[in-house]
Amino acid sequence: MNSIIITGGAGFIGSHLVRLLVNTYPEILFINFDKLTYAGNLANLTDIENAPNYRFIKGDIVEEESVMSAFETYRFDGVFHLAAESHVDRSIVNPKEFIMTNIVGTVNLLNTARHFWNGHYEGKRFYHVSTDEVYGSLGDEGKFLETTPYDPRSPYSASKASSDHLVRAYYHTYGLPVVISNCSNNYGPNQFPEKLIPLIINNIRHQKPLPVYGKGLNVRDWLYVGDHARAIDLIYREGRIGQTYNIGGSNERQNIDIVRTLCRIMDRKLGRKDGESEKLITFVTDRAGHDFRYAIDSSKLQNELCWKPEVKFDEGFEKTVDWYLANQKWLDEVTSGDYLSYYEKMYKGR
Ligand code: NAD
Ligand code: DAU
Repeated sequence: MNSIIITGGAGFIGSHLVRLLVNTYPEILFINFDKLTYAGNLANLTDIENAPNYRFIKGDIVEEESVMSAFETYRFDGVFHLAAESHVDRSIVNPKEFIMTNIVGTVNLLNTARHFWNGHYEGKRFYHVSTDEVYGSLGDEGKFLETTPYDPRSPYSASKASSDHLVRAYYHTYGLPVVISNCSNNYGPNQFPEKLIPLIINNIRHQKPLPVYGKGLNVRDWLYVGDHARAIDLIYREGRIGQTYNIGGSNERQNIDIVRTLCRIMDRKLGRKDGESEKLITFVTDRAGHDFRYAIDSSKLQNELCWKPEVKFDEGFEKTVDWYLANQKWLDEVTSGDYLSYYEKMYKGR
């Protein structure tokens, strides 16, 4: 049986990808290798946890021996690398953790794959999941292409840019069969409520202030998480070795529009008066170095591999709100304990 390691499979995007792969390829054994940080949650995967082609290993990619030992046991044919510290605000407070996981952790995986594959690259693939933030910040015009020069501006995006460069370096220097994708902002079920959309949903639910950074005019290009998972599966199978593919939703929205839309949907679903939640909107001190706009040109992926987003924004938004309302226990569990002190620290006096 072929086996594939997925790092960060208990996180937001990772759990959607694991489910898709485990259900689609019963003949392949998938090993979810995850440290279970605050962002990793096995409750995201209860529906497939007993599948015969799925195993979980609690492990840290920063510890090279743990990665080595997983490779030793399972002799992986492929790697989907998603494990990362992923939240920009946290990277501003504590950059070093981002350097360790996102850069050192990636090098450990690259070295281990290189060691075990030992130049026999037939049928092997190392897929690195990255972000559009490596390209920096756009003004009102233009979109990121795969050829856009890197210009990361937060410790998070700088650490992801660094890992992308290293992955490419292992391709050019050692011939490691790599492929990279850089995706725009994802939304959907199971996203940790430190990120804009689930944070706003949770605060509306509790009638707490809705913190909007600056004037709320920054723009993000939103993609439903299931569409990202499909793209990753496709690129892994059919993408060209050594290539990079941009993935995006072609769905640009200002933050303030996202927040107002959520207010309207939630008022309707919770039976509140129209306009009630909008009163909670609070403009707070801007994020340091806040990138103004991201927009992805994904025509390479669309033309070469015939991928396109399937979930329309309105439909995806409704689905997402419905999921959080139907999974209040999940939300309550992840917003207790550590989350409360994180929230206090991040938003107090802002
Ligand atoms: P997430 O924070 O929800 O999940 C990250 C997962 O990685 C968690 O399960 C966590 O436990 C695990 N992890 C963290 N450090 C680890 C370590 N040292 N060893 C092993 N596991 C570790 O992140 P996400 O939003 O699902 O993002 C996944 C990947 O996709 C990241 O590489 C991120 O940079 C990239 N990405 C995210 C988005 C987005 O909008 N969320 C967009 C583009 C790219
Ligand atoms: O573009 C891809 C990236 O998208 C991923 O690589 C990151 O892992 C992911 O976290 C996301 O980064 P952003 O910084 O764009 O996402 P976040 O949800 O943190 O913020 C979205 C926008 O909303 C951003 O302009 C900041 C703003 N914001 C965010 C929070 C948490 C607010 O106005 N208020 C908030 O409380």
